[in-house]
Amino acid sequence: MASKPDRITGFVLVVAAVAAVAGILFGFDTGVISGAILFINEDFSLTSATTEVAVSSVLMGAIIGALFGGPLSDRVGRRSSILSAAAIFLVGTVVVVLSPIFSIFIIGRILIGIAIGVASFVAPLYISEIAPENIRGALVSLNQLLITIGILIAYGVNYYFAAEGAWRAMFLAGLIPGTVLLVGMFLMPRSPRWLMFMNRPGDAEKVLRKIRGTPDVSDELGEIEKSMRTEGAGTWSDLFAPGVRLPLLLGVGLAVLQQATGINTVIYYAPTIFQFAGLAEATASIAATVGIGIVNVLVTLVAIWLVDRAGRRPLLLGSLAGMGIAMLLLGIGFAFEGGGGGAAVSLGQVTAVSLIIYVAAFALGLGPIFWLIISEIYPLSVRGLAMSLATVTNWAANFIIAATFLSLVDLIGESGVFLLYALIAALAWLFVFKLVPETKGLSLEQIEAYFRSRGRVGEETRPRNM
Ligand code: GLC
Repeated sequence: MASKPDRITGFVLVVAAVAAVAGILFGFDTGVISGAILFINEDFSLTSATTEVAVSSVLMGAIIGALFGGPLSDRVGRRSSILSAAAIFLVGTVVVVLSPIFSIFIIGRILIGIAIGVASFVAPLYISEIAPENIRGALVSLNQLLITIGILIAYGVNYYFAAEGAWRAMFLAGLIPGTVLLVGMFLMPRSPRWLMFMNRPGDAEKVLRKIRGTPDVSDELGEIEKSMRTEGAGTWSDLFAPGVRLPLLLGVGLAVLQQATGINTVIYYAPTIFQFAGLAEATASIAATVGIGIVNVLVTLVAIWLVDRAGRRPLLLGSLAGMGIAMLLLGIGFAFEGGGGGAAVSLGQVTAVSLIIYVAAFALGLGPIFWLIISEIYPLSVRGLAMSLATVTNWAANFIIAATFLSLVDLIGESGVFLLYALIAALAWLFVFKLVPETKGLSLEQIEAYFRSRGRVGEETRPRNM
């Protein structure tokens, strides 16, 4: 019997779960700095400018990591790239934990950033290349699930060590997921698609047999081989070939839109936003923030369940609609702030409800599906490079949005900023509606053929299940 590329084995679930631990590193670092920074400030006597450097150095590192991660993942492979990222993460963490002076602390933060930049896209890339097509969405989205869990763990760690102000211990906790990833990935196989790309069909076959749990994998191997015959060498300039231009626009566009709709202002600044809304007690703001973290995890689970059933497009469109409405609500709430006493609901309540709707809507679609789509839409020969470009864009946009939030609030007010994010969500909805095809249930090679035919004809030919 010919192989079925949609076979689900226990082994493939383990492989995906181990690679997804990379997400914990990403999420943990995103969350841990917000708690640690208060005490780092004191220890190193930071000014507001050096505080910004302490926070954003990771994002700078991530941009560098994402840029070099592309060629790295093509040259040494997906598995070895994740292994290198785990090792760099561990080194960076030790440097941060032991740093005697601020400049060494920053070097550690940049190393951590480089590791996260590489891991943030090579993990989804690797999972996408080993996954059976009928559950690829769910398996790749495990990475986003572990990002959200990593953020939550960091909130817990911050809380635990806050009383003693033990910021070094907060970072030290990162050694656990880092070690799990290093040891775990060491035991995992290489990506069969990368092995084919390196002209090692014998090794690719061996891996495929193991992850599909069947000796006959000829159909899937044949499909990968066929799609490779039509491809070029895979250089940066190939990103502008006719069949790649549209996916390139999709990846870079979604990268900007995922960040420019404001998610990380909520993740990084939720307590501040609650304080803007008049929630004076710090403990109430922090409790509300943990609530947001929990919603982020729970709804990502729902997305994992839905993504291969409902498909990517309906989830993305629903997600953006919900995010837009929530930001509109928040913007209107702040606009009427202080306008009338005796209002039926307080601004604090409006803020809590809007932020919960917003994060739930993000988690249902745009959060996981950005990382999923960029792991699906590029031809094998440029997959590493193209994903790396989309990821660099994502981290750069993350940096710009985080760095401008507070000054934007000064400039156009809270209400203005939230209405701006609502407007960007509306534009993002149109972008997705017009341009993003459904990739549910298609093999990576079928998706590639779809974009190639669109590039050639220059007109609409939708994949079969749209
Ligand atoms: C996505 C975003 C990341 C954000 C996270 C929050 O992974 O890419 O920037 O922090 O979701 O859940």
